[in-house]
Amino acid sequence: MMRATSLVILLLLSNTFAVVAPRAQEQDAGAGAPPALAPGQAPPLPKPGPLAQPRSSIQVGFPTVLTEYVISPSTLRPARVALGQKLFFEPRLSGDGTVSCATCHDPARAFTDGRPLAVGIHGRVGQRNAPTVLNALYNKTQFWDGRVDTLEQQAALPITNPFEMGSASIGDALSRIAGDKDYQAQFMQAFGRDVNEQDMLSAIAAYERTLASFDSPFDHFIAGDGNAISDSARRGWDLFNAKARCHLCHALTDNQPDATLFLDSDFHNVGIGILRHHVVPLAQQAERELAKGHVTGIDTAAITSEMSVLGRFLVTRKQDDIASFKTPGLRNVLVTGPYFHDGSMQTLWDVMDHYNKGDGITNPWLDKDMQPLALTEPEIDDMVAFLASLTSAQYKVTGDQEYARQLALSKVNRPQRDTARAFGPKPKQPEPPPL
Ligand code: HEC
Ligand code: HEC
Repeated sequence: MMRATSLVILLLLSNTFAVVAPRAQEQDAGAGAPPALAPGQAPPLPKPGPLAQPRSSIQVGFPTVLTEYVISPSTLRPARVALGQKLFFEPRLSGDGTVSCATCHDPARAFTDGRPLAVGIHGRVGQRNAPTVLNALYNKTQFWDGRVDTLEQQAALPITNPFEMGSASIGDALSRIAGDKDYQAQFMQAFGRDVNEQDMLSAIAAYERTLASFDSPFDHFIAGDGNAISDSARRGWDLFNAKARCHLCHALTDNQPDATLFLDSDFHNVGIGILRHHVVPLAQQAERELAKGHVTGIDTAAITSEMSVLGRFLVTRKQDDIASFKTPGLRNVLVTGPYFHDGSMQTLWDVMDHYNKGDGITNPWLDKDMQPLALTEPEIDDMVAFLASLTSAQYKVTGDQEYARQLALSKVNRPQRDTARAFGPKPKQPEPPPL
């Protein structure tokens, strides 16, 4: 029984994922800076090029067993995936027909928008950086604060968020496509029913579940090709699992190097943004104004209000979760900047400078695993080389271009660098104030 099931899934995976344009990386022309925006206008709509195609399961490093575990067979039917892909690029799901999911998750930018903070309907700027949708199929929770678990639940929220797609309701969004003959036929083919909310969300999620992205130089290295990454990147991988302490959070296990997704499905306060905000009054405001467990309310607060900085606390209301955010996976990280939940860091050198000083001298909620690392400049370069080696083949051109851009920027500006603190003792952490 078990065996039969996994065979079915494997067949489905290879069939569905085989829709891929086999040499899509040839279409990767590099992304460049995101276009400047006119006031009051949403960003231009991305078109579904070859990089939008479902990915092949034939990728070096593809975690077959894990993928079988997280995807149930029926979800990947080609008709559902095709419908989901179309919906992902559909601006009519937004209030004024100007914003699609791809606006903020552009395949040419590894399914991000390249901006510090995502910009939606009427040019409204939210409080959070748009994470990639690549490999989101493996997330145990969705969003920086994990406020929902599944891709289906996730997809419903941006459609009505007033800073994202701004539809009055899901029904309102549906009403704009329900009369379309092509959609009627595609829903019928995929689900055997008329256009409806549940199937729309299932289709979008099905498409996202085909966006598995591996096949990086690092995967070739792990698979045995010793020359697939530079000596520098190899030293970076060793540092990652030892002196730099990254594996404590960016790995599934504490004591064994894990090269699959580089995340722990947990939440931590690593000291991002917290110094710029008065956290205690914001936490009190959340207690007063937000109904606990009300996902739509949390979604609006997270995207449109300063309470965003509270992170996981908005979901759990636990002191320990103040300004905690989900550990993101690190695959394709070179091409998914700017970095962190608030997009506050421009380069991977800035990220390394932040961790190196073990940020958060006055942050009482800082994760206990954060501390000064005493990494030297050559070690920081090695770490960046390792992170850059996690770029999937399809984004090689974009990655090379972005590496050059970040390197040039890092030569003139290292706003996070604080060598004295990086080589100093771990500061005493202040007690959390009463809420
Ligand atoms: C205006 C920009 C914008 C639009 C439009 C948008 N998103 Fe997002 N998306 C974001 C931001 C910002 C986040 C992170 C928000 C947070 O964590 O609070 C996010 C998070 C996600 C995540 C979670 C990823 C993770 O690692 O946790 C998924 C999946 C996703 N979006 C898919 C979609 C889909 C599907 C649509 C269309 C129905 C969509 N997005 C529309 C900006 C956008
Ligand atoms: C205590 C747990 C923890 C440790 C240790 C840790 N990280 Fe993180 N990492 C996180 C969390 C949580 C976030 C998201 C934080 C936020 O946005 O507020 C993050 C975010 C990042 C990001 C930004 C990714 C993105 O998509 O924006 C990068 C890059 C990163 N970490 C790399 C590293 C490296 C390299 C190390 C080792 C030097 C490291 N991390 C150590 C938990 C950790």
